[in-house]
Amino acid sequence: MNVLILGSGGREHAFAWKIAQSKQLQNLYIAPGNAGTAHCGINVNISVTDFEAIKNLVWERDIDLVLVGPEDPLVKGIHDFFLQDDVLKDIPVIGPKKDGAQLEGSKDFSKQFMQKYKVPTAKYATFSKKNIEEGYTFLESLNAPYVLKADGLAAGKGVLILDKLQEAKKELKSMLLDAKFGAAGSKVVIEEFLHGIELSVFVLTDGRSYKILPAAKDYKRIGEGDTGLNTGGMGAVSPVPFADEVFIKKVEERVIIPTIKGLNAEGIDYRGFIFIGLMNCDGDPQVIEYNCRMGDPETEVVIPRIESDFLDLLEGVAKQTLHEKAYTTLNQTATTVVMVSGGYPGDYAKGKTVKGLEQVKDSLVFHSGTSLQKEEVVTNGGRVFAVTSLGKTIEEAVNKSFLAAEMISYEGSYYRKDIGKDLINSKEKT
Ligand code: AMP
Ligand code: GLY
Repeated sequence: MNVLILGSGGREHAFAWKIAQSKQLQNLYIAPGNAGTAHCGINVNISVTDFEAIKNLVWERDIDLVLVGPEDPLVKGIHDFFLQDDVLKDIPVIGPKKDGAQLEGSKDFSKQFMQKYKVPTAKYATFSKKNIEEGYTFLESLNAPYVLKADGLAAGKGVLILDKLQEAKKELKSMLLDAKFGAAGSKVVIEEFLHGIELSVFVLTDGRSYKILPAAKDYKRIGEGDTGLNTGGMGAVSPVPFADEVFIKKVEERVIIPTIKGLNAEGIDYRGFIFIGLMNCDGDPQVIEYNCRMGDPETEVVIPRIESDFLDLLEGVAKQTLHEKAYTTLNQTATTVVMVSGGYPGDYAKGKTVKGLEQVKDSLVFHSGTSLQKEEVVTNGGRVFAVTSLGKTIEEAVNKSFLAAEMISYEGSYYRKDIGKDLINSKEKT
């Protein structure tokens, strides 16, 4: 099979690394890719939302399957574009159509969906400019902290958690009346704050059957001890010790099965990943959000724990034969430590020369934001590498990642040295 992966981050490098190992693979293309994916296949410098250029590439290179990494092309309808095109319509796209991508693309849609299909989630209501006064009243009915979510995609910045009622009202006003998040904030979901520990569960589905992929916990804040600004993710661990079999069974029965059934009932033919952001509230799962794609950096710990041929699983999604496919996971712990550019998640410099990559032997270095400049790897993003290691315990794995991260150098490099620490400590207590 000839495969095209769309995207340029660590998630796509992990996909490319895994698919490159498949016996079924002939040629692998990544658009636009990065300096890391260049080792797994051929990078093609095309934007993930330039559908016409993607069409030409698929046609020229005789692509048999397209795997979409990020949400943007899905929410913009790349899958629908393929289905509506005479040349492309029989080429499978892994990732939902526009209707299914709304699970991520519209918070209001996903909350309504959860309510309709009885998926446990925080109490909520949605407001627009027209009923802002009711929004203020709804806020008054809740206890602090207050959770405000812009309905549409806002580059991961559309969720505000506020301690004071006055602040929450002010922010609601600036989202609805002053377009703080542009059109994405023309509707705002206000919801109850959930107390608990967060984790993510990933599902691969062909619309009929599904496989539950390894669960992961990510580390969103820039600073150690979960302090400072939110980022795309500074590290991840899989499996998650507190998400034991009993908990995952609850997730399957209360969340995954009703979600798949709900999609069917809505007439949504969903083929791809469902990323379920969960809160473990005293042993019971509550859904915080759905995403229509895999997480980054979660993919960098999920993929290395999948033993089976990943391309074979994706073919099962495309042909709706996923139930026939072998699926096993590695009984080891994977951790990833994300190395970022100095200044991230604020302004940061690009084009810094990277040294030491060849010294890393015991870890997988997935590139998140790099490019090649005259054969040299240079930084090209806020998140630069996700350094993944496997071990018997979180401690063993994460120490390997820290050692490897120390070998890699570029000006301004920073990473959190406490990835997994909370999980190690909580295990010691039990
Ligand atoms: P989202 O984009 O919906 O994932 O929200 C971003 C982050 O905000 C989540 O990962 C949670 O840490 C936090 N969050 C969102 N909704 C809630 C909630 N209802 N209660 C507590 N925390 C929340
Ligand atoms: N790491 C969170 C995400 O991919 O949305």
